Amino acid sequence: MQSKDRIVLALDVDTKNEALELVGKLSDHVGVFKVGMQLFNTTGPDIVKEINDLGGKVFVDLKFHDIPNTVGSAARVLTRLNSYMFNIHAAGGKKMMEQAAKDTLNEAEKLGKNSPLLLAVTVLTSISQKELEEEMFISDLKIPELVEKWALMAKQSGVTGVVCSPQEIEIIRKACGSDFVIVTPGIRPSWSEQNDQKRITTPRQALELGADYMVIGRPITEAKDPVEAAQSIIEELEA
Ligand code: C5P
Repeated sequence: MQSKDRIVLALDVDTKNEALELVGKLSDHVGVFKVGMQLFNTTGPDIVKEINDLGGKVFVDLKFHDIPNTVGSAARVLTRLNSYMFNIHAAGGKKMMEQAAKDTLNEAEKLGKNSPLLLAVTVLTSISQKELEEEMFISDLKIPELVEKWALMAKQSGVTGVVCSPQEIEIIRKACGSDFVIVTPGIRPSWSEQNDQKRITTPRQALELGADYMVIGRPITEAKDPVEAAQSIIEELEA
């Protein structure tokens, strides 16, 4: 994989114009554009096609979590929409993940196109051990153990990979093997601001830990020159 293709740019903006301006500027310098709830719910699903038309692949980051039939149906829609990757919550259970994986593959086959990468979110990085115990009532496992179990369950359900914190890459890579796709946010090049991210790694460290894709937002979108920022991340990955 080329270094550029590993960069997933988070389009955390409110308007279609801002998003498409970033895509226009950066489609030769990053591999994938991430559309989350903020942008998707503003623009509707057409944003995926509009980014595709400008030459960008799209990660639709809506984190589905519902009954298996509903998530499977939504997975078929995102496959038809031509998402390059999209995600579901592992906490939705094995049946839900199996249904999503099956419906994604079937729909792609029916349309004669490549199947999107289906990613599972394990434990959200905003959840602390205390919250896991006192609000979700899971008290017999530490977060890394739960992450490992859910990642394995995702793999066994036919899910292609996970979105996880850089701290969890090594555990997941060891448990799920080299073919399992790992996407990680919380990336900060040494020259950029930390913003509200806490446990961060540099792009190079994430690569060395075993990440396939890195979600990066503000270090590029808020840079004086976003193209130069993306290029400098590519150089760091290739150094
Ligand atoms: O601007 P920044 O590089 O911090 O953006 C990171 C992106 O990754 C945001 O879209 C954020 O919602 C997402 N993300 C994250 N941490 C997680 C999961 C997703 O930062 N644990």
